[in-house]
Amino acid sequence: MQFGVYGLKPEEKVFFDAWAQNNGVTMNYHTAGLNGQSPADFAGDDAIVALQTVPYPPAAIEAMAAAGVKYLALRNVGMDNVPFPTLAAKGIQLANVPAYSPQSIAEFAVSLTLQLVRNFGYVIQAISAHQYTEAMQRTGKELGTMTIGVIGTGRIGASAVKLFKGFGSKVIAYDPYPNPALKDEVEYVDDLADLWPRVDVIDLHIPGTKENTHLIGAAEIAQMKDGVYIVNTARGNLIDTQALLAGLASDKVAGAGIDTFEFESDVFPQWEKNEAPTNALYEQLLADPRVIMTPHIAYHTETAVENMVEVSLNNAKAFVETGHAPNEVDVQKLAQA
Ligand code: NAD
Ligand code: COI
Repeated sequence: MQFGVYGLKPEEKVFFDAWAQNNGVTMNYHTAGLNGQSPADFAGDDAIVALQTVPYPPAAIEAMAAAGVKYLALRNVGMDNVPFPTLAAKGIQLANVPAYSPQSIAEFAVSLTLQLVRNFGYVIQAISAHQYTEAMQRTGKELGTMTIGVIGTGRIGASAVKLFKGFGSKVIAYDPYPNPALKDEVEYVDDLADLWPRVDVIDLHIPGTKENTHLIGAAEIAQMKDGVYIVNTARGNLIDTQALLAGLASDKVAGAGIDTFEFESDVFPQWEKNEAPTNALYEQLLADPRVIMTPHIAYHTETAVENMVEVSLNNAKAFVETGHAPNEVDVQKLAQA
């Protein structure tokens, strides 16, 4: 059995090699993502194991299909970058890793929140310029005095709720499918309009579907408390970045933690080359000490990396051996959505 591995990161290699040895599977490693491949590139591969945040181009999926590859196993959760209609048309089956470590992203979201409410952007800037008195004058807030609005209480949102509760925060949540495990932890609202004016922090944990695009725009920001903080470790398209910048400019928004940026596909090639992103909106956010920007790394812990590799490889192996995988998703259904 042979797997084509795409988007290989150095820290993953040890886990791939160990799994390959234990399972007698050959790995065809590529550090590049899926983009621009021809059918010959997939020769001998029984399944493809991939990780990338930029879109999977339909042409790469068509090349896989032309090479006779039927299975794609993602090493991550989000599937907003997958061209489902192409997969469905080409009969390619797909699996993701739905829960490699919800805690990793939840901890990162809470850490961004803590940094925002303690003015880390200003403090680090001041200390770097030896302006210690400026750093000493910045007064922060305590999470135990704050109300957090958690939007999306699935795996990651539920972990975030528990962490915020540990700090003594009150949590108000919105999810069309309330999580029964949180019934004693949070107050659910039936409508986001009831959440916006009541919370000090908004923490997003929902998928970047078409319906969720610009869930936070100018109209929503107008309904929020003055001095609200917004944290997005979910997907960039959830926030209208222009509206966020306007909210920061008017001080309606006191700060934002942005691990997932709306135009990530534009800036990702520059991130990869350690170049300053030239996207004007990115530059504005980065220049604002009230904003903490991170390059889509909320997931990135040792626990998560190990689980992403192992679970995706188990999915790929099950696909090849049985025609199905434990974490298979319904491509035909998703293509209709
Ligand atoms: P999940 O499926 O367990 O939970 C998502 C929840 O969102 C569900 O309960 C769903 O009902 C709810 N939801 C959907 N649309 C909603 C809306 N408009 N309003 C309120 N709730 C809504 O998913 P998860 O594992 O918690 O992951 C959430 C997202 O986090 C993923 O889709 C992915 O985009 C993102 N993510 C980011 C990183 C990162 O490194 N930054 C890593 C992993 C996942
Ligand atoms: C996800 O798992 O959905 C992420 O956002 C992590 C990223 C490496 C793709």
